[in-house]
Amino acid sequence: MTRSLTRFRSVIAGVGGYLPDRVLTNAELAQQVDTSDEWIVERSGIRQRHIAAVGELTSDLAFHAASRAMAQAGLGPDDIDLIVLGTATPDQTFPATAAKVQARLGITRGAAFDIQAVCSGFVYALAVADNFIKAGQSKGALVIGAETFSRILDWTDRTTCVLFGDGAGAMVLRAEPEAEGDAGATQRGVLSTHLHADGRHQDLLYVDGGPSSTQTVGHVRMVGKEVFRHAVVNLAAVVREALDANGLTADDIDWIVPHQANQRILEGTARKLGVDPAKVIMTVDHHGNTSAASVPLAFAEAVADGRIRPGQLVLLEAMGGGFTWGSALVRV
Ligand code: UT7
Repeated sequence: MTRSLTRFRSVIAGVGGYLPDRVLTNAELAQQVDTSDEWIVERSGIRQRHIAAVGELTSDLAFHAASRAMAQAGLGPDDIDLIVLGTATPDQTFPATAAKVQARLGITRGAAFDIQAVCSGFVYALAVADNFIKAGQSKGALVIGAETFSRILDWTDRTTCVLFGDGAGAMVLRAEPEAEGDAGATQRGVLSTHLHADGRHQDLLYVDGGPSSTQTVGHVRMVGKEVFRHAVVNLAAVVREALDANGLTADDIDWIVPHQANQRILEGTARKLGVDPAKVIMTVDHHGNTSAASVPLAFAEAVADGRIRPGQLVLLEAMGGGFTWGSALVRV
C-alpha cells in the first residue's frame, strides 16, 4: 500500500460572529453594584456587554456564529468533518456543546468535541483543528469560541461582574494541498500555532464550583491585578515566539487580534513589543470579555468592516485561566 505524501495546510474560508440582542451598559450595572461608568471605562475600556436571553444557550450563540462563518465560506454541512469548540460555559456538563451544534447544523459525520482552555479556548481549538488538517484527518473544520459567562458571574462581586459578557465567534478552515516548495510566511493559511499552560497559577482565575468538587456550577473568581501582570508578560512572550519561529518582525504583521479582556492589557502588550497600537484590533469596548469567543468575534468584525483583507498577515493571541496562553499566525 502506498501512503499519500500530500501535505495539507489550513486556509481560512470564512468567519462569523454573533452577539445576543440584550445590551447591558455600565450605567445599568452601576445601579446593581457599587461601581461607575468612569471606573469601568478607565480600568478596562469596557462600555457595554451583551447578555444572552433567558433560555438562550452557548450552543445557540455558537450555532449562529458557525452558520455565518459557513455561509461566508460557501460551505454546507457535508463539507464539515470536524468541529472543535472552545468554551468554559457549556450548555451541560456533557454532551459536548460541539455535538449539539453539529446536530443543529445538520452535520452527521466527523468528530465534534469541546476544548476547555477558558479565554485561550479559541486559540487552543484553532491549533487542534490545524493539526488535524495537517495530519490529513480533516478536510473542512469548524472552529468555534462560544460563551455565556453571564451565567457563571457573581452579580454581587463588582471586581468581576463588570468585565464579562456573552457571545460567539467561528472560523471555517479548509484543507488545501501544499504545492511543491510552497512554504514560508508567504503562503496562505495557518502558518504557526504555539500553546502554553502553567497550572501553578490556577488560583488566580478560576470558578469555585464544578461537577467533581461541589456538584454546582460555581462563580468566576479572579485576582485581577495578578492576572493583569501575568497577561502582559505572557502575551508579549508568545507574540515574540511566533515572530521568531517564522523569521518575522513586528513590522511584518498587518494586524494583531488579541483576546479582548482589558484595553490596558492590549495597549500594554503592544507597547512592550513596540507594535503600533493602531495595528491592534480592539472590540472590548462594546462586548467586554467574552472569554473564548473574543478572538473570533474581533476577527470577524475586522473582516466585516474591511480592516482585515485577503493576503494580510494576522497574529491571534490569548491568555486565560489555568493559566493557558497561546498564539496563531495566519495569512488570510
Ligand atoms: O480573560 C482572562 C484574563 N483576565 C484579565 O486579563 C483581567 C485582568 N485584570 C484586569 O483587567 C484588572 O486588574 C481589573 C480591571 C480587573 C482591575 O483593575 P485594577 O486597575 O487592577 O484595579 P484593582 O483590582 O487594583 O482595584 C483598584 C480599586 C480597589 O479599591 P482599593 O482597594 O484601591 O480601595 C478595588 O476595590 O478599585 C476597586 N474596584 C472597583 N471600583 C469600582 C474593583 N472593582 C471595582 C469596580 N468599580 N467594578
